[in-house]
This record gives sequence, C-alpha cells and structure tokens, in this order.
Amino acid sequence: MRRNTAASLNPADLLMTAGTVREMVPLDFPFVPGTDDLAGTVTKIGPGTHGFEVGEEVFGFGAPPSFAAGVGIPAVTSGALAEYATFQAGPYLAKRPSKLSAVIAAALPSTGMTGLAVLDRGRFQPRETVLVIGAPGGIGSVVVPLLARQCTVIASGAEPDRDYLRGLGAAEVIGYRDSDLTQEVRPASPRRRGRGGEPRADGRGGHRGNPDAAPRRTTA
Ligand SMILES: NC(=O)c1ccc[n+]([C@@H]2O[C@H](COP(=O)([O-])OP(=O)(O)OC[C@H]3O[C@@H](n4cnc5c(N)ncnc54)[C@H](OP(=O)(O)O)[C@@H]3O)[C@@H](O)[C@H]2O)c1
Repeated sequence: MRRNTAASLNPADLLMTAGTVREMVPLDFPFVPGTDDLAGTVTKIGPGTHGFEVGEEVFGFGAPPSFAAGVGIPAVTSGALAEYATFQAGPYLAKRPSKLSAVIAAALPSTGMTGLAVLDRGRFQPRETVLVIGAPGGIGSVVVPLLARQCTVIASGAEPDRDYLRGLGAAEVIGYRDSDLTQEVRPASPRRRGRGGEPRADGRGGHRGNPDAAPRRTTA
C-alpha cells in the first residue's frame, strides 16, 4: 500500500474516462483512473513482499486492472489517481532517490522507458549526428540529453524551446514551424551514412507528424 504524492495523467486516462476506447478497454467499476507514472510513500507491506520498507519513497509505472486487461499487460496497481493505492512490488516500482522530486518522478517512468527503447532500437553510435524530431516533448526531453552524451544532437522544436533544448545538450536547434527540416539538416550534417531506412529519433505525436517530411539519421 502506498500513499500517493504525485501522479501523472496519460492520454489513455482521458480516452478511457470519455468512453472513446470502451470496446478495447471496458471499465470495471469501481474504476480508479491513473494509467501511468506515480510517486508516493510506502504505508503498508503485503505478506511475502521483500525489498521495500514502510516509510520509503518510491516511484513507478502502473497499469490498473481495466487498462491492463484491455491491452494485455500485467495489472500492477489499483490506479494511480487516488490518495492511497496498492502497488505490486516488482520491476515497475523503484526507490525514489532523494535528489529526484516526487513531481518529476511521477512524470519520468513512461517517457523514460519509451525514450530508452528509442535509443535501444536506434543503436546510435558515438560521434554520429542525430536529428531528434519533436525534441521538446516528453520523449524528446529524455532522448536528447542521453544522446548528447556521445552524439551531436540536432533538435527540432519551436523558437521558444531553443534555450530549453540547448540546455538539454542539443548542439543545434531547428524551428520546425518555419523551416524545411530536410533543407536545414543536410548542410548541418553533410556526410550521410547511406544506409537506407535507418531510424531517426522521432518524438512527434503520430497524429500530427508527417513521417515523410524528415530526413534520416546522418553522421557528421
Ligand atoms: N509520453 C509517453 O510516455 C509515450 C509512451 C509511448 C508512446 N508515446 C508516443 O510518442 C510520441 C511522442 O510522445 P510525447 O509524449 O513526447 O509527445 P509530446 O510531449 O506531445 O511531444 C510531441 C512533440 O512533437 C512536436 N511536433 C508536433 N508536430 C510536429 C511536426 N510536424 N514536426 C516536428 N515536431 C512536431 C511538438 O511540438 P509543439 O509542442 O510545438 O507542437 C512536441 O514538441 C507520441 O506519438 C506518443 O503517442 C509516448
């Protein structure tokens, strides 16, 4: 059992409570929303549970029963948007480091795990130049600083995001609203690898992005 300090809303919560996905995710009532990240304090421990103590600060990613059943993943929490919730000890729950605030922790697991999957899938190599599309968004904000440790990052974003993206480690920021990314990126990274179909780090929302508009990963 955990007393929640912070929790984040996932688009799935809005779709489920509006009934938009009722065919795919029928709700069992009483239904507690909260299909995403959370942070809180352990208040009670179930029998046979190891690795956590009462009073510890934790954070994690949680799928409540209705959502989990609908998308075929394990249910690990009773729902994050409640003062108290049960949470299964396991790979989706971690101790929160004191330097990580509860609010940040409650926004990190989903984007963090997705960002790590992007990096894993992309297999970016040191010193490559990588274009991150949708860089100021949730996924981009995770991907840019991790990539910038070993690659040159060109980030697409809107003009007000320029300082933020520079602060995350982007070497260059290209405004996507008033520029042709294809034309802007090619001079910035002249030697293309020539391996067709390589992944780029693309954090645009699928409903808004145009996949044909962006160039592939390049090397400097
Ligand atoms: N967040 C998660 O945990 C998660 C998990 C799994 C999958 N996903 C998927 O991953 C994608 C990104 O998620 P997110 O959470 O990072 O979304 P987000 O926070 O909404 O960020 C999307 C970013 O893309 C930018 N953008 C929109 N249209 C663009 C265009 N045509 N060209 C360039 N940039 C454009 C947006 O800029 P503006 O703000 O200026 O419009 C924004 O910076 C979505 O398809 C989402 O469904 C997300």
